[in-house]
Amino acid sequence: MSNYHIKHLEEYFQVYRKSVRNPENFWEEVAEEHFLWRKRWDNVLSWDFKKPEVKWFEGAELNITENCIDRHLRTRGDKTAILFEPNNPDEPAQHISYQQLYERVNQMANVLKSQGIEKGDRVCIYLPMIPELAIALLACARIGAIHSVVFAGFSSKALATRINDASCKMLITSDGSYRGSKTLDLKAIVDGALESCESIETVLVAERTKNKIHMKEGRDLWLQPLLDDAEVKCSAEPMKAEDPLFILYTSGSTGRPKGMVHTTAGYMVYTAYTFKNIFQYRETDVYWCTADIGWITGHSYIVYGPLANGATTVMFEGVPSYPDFSRFWEIVEKHQITHLYTAPTAIRALAKENIEYVERHDLSSLKVLGSVGEPINEEAWHWYNDNIGKKQSPIVDTWWQTETGGIMISPIPFVTPTKPTYATLPFIGIQPALMDEEGKEIKGNQVDGRLCIKFPWPSMARTIWGDHDRYRDTYFSAYENKYFTGDGAMRDEVGYYRITGRVDDVIIVSGHNLGTAPIEDAINEHPAVAESAIVGFPHDVKGNALYGYVMLKEFGETRNQDNLRKEINQQITDKVGPIAKLDKIQFVNGLPKTRSGKIMRRILRKIASKDTSNLGDTSTLLNPEVVQEIMDNAL
Ligand code: WTA
Repeated sequence: MSNYHIKHLEEYFQVYRKSVRNPENFWEEVAEEHFLWRKRWDNVLSWDFKKPEVKWFEGAELNITENCIDRHLRTRGDKTAILFEPNNPDEPAQHISYQQLYERVNQMANVLKSQGIEKGDRVCIYLPMIPELAIALLACARIGAIHSVVFAGFSSKALATRINDASCKMLITSDGSYRGSKTLDLKAIVDGALESCESIETVLVAERTKNKIHMKEGRDLWLQPLLDDAEVKCSAEPMKAEDPLFILYTSGSTGRPKGMVHTTAGYMVYTAYTFKNIFQYRETDVYWCTADIGWITGHSYIVYGPLANGATTVMFEGVPSYPDFSRFWEIVEKHQITHLYTAPTAIRALAKENIEYVERHDLSSLKVLGSVGEPINEEAWHWYNDNIGKKQSPIVDTWWQTETGGIMISPIPFVTPTKPTYATLPFIGIQPALMDEEGKEIKGNQVDGRLCIKFPWPSMARTIWGDHDRYRDTYFSAYENKYFTGDGAMRDEVGYYRITGRVDDVIIVSGHNLGTAPIEDAINEHPAVAESAIVGFPHDVKGNALYGYVMLKEFGETRNQDNLRKEINQQITDKVGPIAKLDKIQFVNGLPKTRSGKIMRRILRKIASKDTSNLGDTSTLLNPEVVQEIMDNAL
C-alpha cells in the first residue's frame, strides 16, 4: 500500500514533494496499485491549459462500478455499502450490502437498457436522498450513460434548463419526497418542467411517499415493477479513461448554469485516494457525509470515493431539525458513526440550539469531523471542535469545488496540525498559487491573493457541456497557464491556506452556490420591475443571505411594497428555487453604474453589509446621486 495511506506529517511532506516533482510517476503508481483496469493506459498525462485540454490515463479502459462494487464482492460481499437512514426516525434504517448493491445496480442498469438508454446518452436524475438515487448514478455508470443529477430542491424552470442543456433522454424521479414534517410533490415539479423539454422520452418514477400523482401515458413508468422483472446481472461497459462519467451543474457569475463534465479514470483515482487519506478511513468505520447527492460533495464523498474504498457510507434522507434538533446526534449514536462530514451552515444552525440536544447523546464513536462548502467561521469551528469532537476528533476543513471534483486543500487528520478557519495545506499532487491583480504570482508567506492551481490534477472537470469556450474563458483566461478558482485566499506564516471567499459574483448561501444572474433574471421578469441587483450580506446561520435592490418601472409604484416583495420571492421560488429567496428587498430609484453601464456591486455589497465607512470614489459613477439615496433607505 505504498503512498496510499499517509500516516504522519513527515510522510506527507515526502509524498507531497514526490507528487509535485514527478506527478506522472506518482499518479501512475497510485492508479496501478489500487484499481481494477480492463486495459492499461498508454500515457499518464497530457495537458495544455491554453486550449485547455487535460487527459489522464489515456488509452486505459475501465468501468468505475467494477471498482466501486464488483471487486469488493469476494471480501466484502456482506459488508454494508450503503446505510440508509430515513427521514422518519421510526422507519427502520436499511443496510444495503455490497452484494445487494451489486444486484440492485445491475437491475437498474438493465432497466435503463431495456428503455433504450445507450452509452453516451444523458440521463437526468431528480430524486430525494433515497437509495434509488445512489443506485441510479451507478446504474448509469455501469452502462456508460452520462448522469446529470439535479438537486431535488430546484424548481421546474431550473430543472428544465438543465435537462435541455444536456438534451437528456430519460428522467428518473419519484412520486414525492420527505423533508422533515413536509412531503413535497416532486412529480408535479417534473411535470411542469417537462412541458418545455422535448428530449425526454421516458420518465421512471420511484415510489416513496405514495403521493397521488399523474402518470403520463407513453412517457411515465413506475420503476419498481421494471426492477422486479430485471436480471441481477449486467455486464459493465468498458469505458475509455476520458469518457464522460457525469455532468453536474454549478452556478456561474453570469448567464446559464455551467454543466461541468467529469470523466472516468482521473475522477475515480482522485476521489478514492482523497477519501482514503483525508478521512483516514479504516475498514470497520461508518462514514457519514450529510450533503445531498445533488451536489458534488455527494457525488464524490457519498458515492464514488467511499465505495471505491469498500467503505460503509450513510445516506440520510431528512433534515437536522426533524423531529428535533438532536437528529444528527441521535444518528451518530444509533449507527456508531466514526466520520461526520457536514457544512458550516448546519453547524451554525445546530450551535444556536440548546446544548442539551447534543449532550443527550453518546458521540464517543466519532473519530474525524469534516467541514465543506464555505469558509467555517471561528465560532462555529470551536463549537464543532469542543462539543462534537470533544477536542479529540480533528476537523478537516476541506476546500474544493464542483469543478475540482475532489478535495484540494485540507488537513489530513492526525497528520496535519489543524488551525481554526484554515483549510491548511494543499493535498498531495495539488499545486496552488496566489496571484495579484496584475497577474503575477505572489510568492512567500503571510500574503493574500486570488487562488489558482498551476498544474492539472486527475479529477478536474474537462469542459463545460456544449460550451468549451466558456470553460476556457471562465477558468483559464484570467491568469496565463493557470486554473483560476474564483476564490480569494491567504497564506499564513507557515504556508497554511485560509479561503476568504468568492471574488466573483457567485454568492454562497447555506453552502449553496448561487449566481446573481439567474436570480436577477427571475426578478426582472416581474411586470413591475425595471432592473435589479443582488448581493450577499453576512448572516449568522446561512453564512451569507441575499439582499436585492429593485428598481420599479413606475417611479412611486403605488402597490403595497410588502405584496411586491412576496411576489418577487415567489417569482424566484418558481424560476430558481426556494434556496434563492431574498432576505431583504429594497426598492430604489436607480442602481449605481459605471460609465460603461455595469452595476457597481462593490458599493451595493458594502451598503448591504452596513459597512459604508469606506465606499471608495463614487464620483466616477454615471449616477453618483443614487448612492446616498440607497444608503438613506437601506434595510
Ligand atoms: C466554497 C463544494 C471555504 C468556495 C465542494 C468554493 C469553501 C465553492 C470551502 C465551491 C471551504 C468550498 N472553505 N470555502 N472548506 N469549501 N468552499 O462548487 O468558495 O458547491 O469556490 O463545491 O465553495 O462550491 P461547490
